[in-house]
Amino acid sequence: MQTLLVTGGAGFIGANFILLARQLQWANIINLDKLTYASNLGNLAELQTDKNYHFVQGDINNFELVSYLLSQYQPDTIINFAAESHVDRSIFSPQNFINTNVLGTFQLLEASRFYWQKLPSAKQKQFRFLHISTDEVYGSLNPQDPAFREDTPYAPNSPYSASKAASDHFVRAYYHTYGLPTLTTNCSNNYGPLQFPEKLIPLTILNAVDGKPLPIYGDGQNIRDWLYVIDHCQAIYLVLQQGKIGETYNIGGLNEKTNLTVVKTICAILDELVPQLNLSYSSLITFVKDRPGHDRRYAIDCSKISQELGWQPQENFDSGLRKTVQWYLNNSYWVNQVRSGAYQNWLKQNYDNR
Ligand code: NAD
Ligand code: DAU
Repeated sequence: MQTLLVTGGAGFIGANFILLARQLQWANIINLDKLTYASNLGNLAELQTDKNYHFVQGDINNFELVSYLLSQYQPDTIINFAAESHVDRSIFSPQNFINTNVLGTFQLLEASRFYWQKLPSAKQKQFRFLHISTDEVYGSLNPQDPAFREDTPYAPNSPYSASKAASDHFVRAYYHTYGLPTLTTNCSNNYGPLQFPEKLIPLTILNAVDGKPLPIYGDGQNIRDWLYVIDHCQAIYLVLQQGKIGETYNIGGLNEKTNLTVVKTICAILDELVPQLNLSYSSLITFVKDRPGHDRRYAIDCSKISQELGWQPQENFDSGLRKTVQWYLNNSYWVNQVRSGAYQNWLKQNYDNR
């Protein structure tokens, strides 16, 4: 079985990926995570006794630590999920995004390059560095524009997307300059279990259940393409197995929805699952001041991964959203744990006086 060094595996997508990888015996996993506010080791509690899973707390910026882990565990692949991932936080504190997304990715690439160059040639051929990126690097679309393709020019608009774009460029440069066998995936908005409730879907579910306002930025007509996290994890694994080195693959859910539609759909599901007497959850919808630089529309053209690797998303938005709502309703212990004091401070910072 292959050994993967996964970074940022205690966050939302990384944890879903590791759980699936261990469940389906895809690989042995070393998980390197700094454990920022967005992480939760409880996401991986079921792997505590799994001998083929190892957790290491640490920063991808720590070149010595990463080099040590590479020589110790000799992974066949690195998957870089580690990032500061929330656009609103990047507006308040862009420095953290430069530190992890740009400098951290650079240090990880450097350590990988030295490790890879010293591998025996058979192992060198097998090695892959897979960088997880975002559709936000392509900027914002008008309603009639075609969806983002892999050759759409980069036009990032937030400190978050600018930092991810910079990291993508470094990954590209390491392939072209040093021949490091890299792969990059740019995906749309993920949703599903284990997502930290600063993001639209879990925030809406939890606020609604608590009877709190459901904040919608601007006019609610911004469009995102929603991808169920397990579909994303399957795509990542396929790209690892069959992706062409040096290439980029766009991954999308084929679910373009306005934010208002997403929130209203969550409210309708909650009205059915946890009805309130004479009240629809949609009465909690509150329009608030827009996000500065708010991208209007994202859409992914995923014909490359679909035609070349045969990937298609399996989940439709209604079934995926229903599963997600049910997961948050069933997991009150997890929910209470992540809504700590720090989370309450974030809500105050982002929403009070908005
Ligand atoms: P997340 O914020 O839930 O998790 C990020 C994880 O990275 C956390 O566990 C955190 O502790 C860890 N981390 C942060 N800085 C680190 C550092 N310096 N060293 C080591 N670990 C560090 O993020 P996510 O939603 O799971 O996203 C994972 C990746 O996917 C990110 O690169 C993100 O840009 C990308 N992405 C996310 C989405 C989405 O909708 N969530 C969509 C497209 C792309
Ligand atoms: O497109 C991929 C990106 O999707 C990832 O790269 C990011 O890591 C991930 O955070 C996500 O970014 P978004 O900014 O699109 O996600 P968020 O859940 O923060 O917001 C989704 C939409 O909902 C966006 O248009 C802003 C809006 N929104 C968000 C929040 C938190 C609201 O209207 N109200 C809110 O309270």
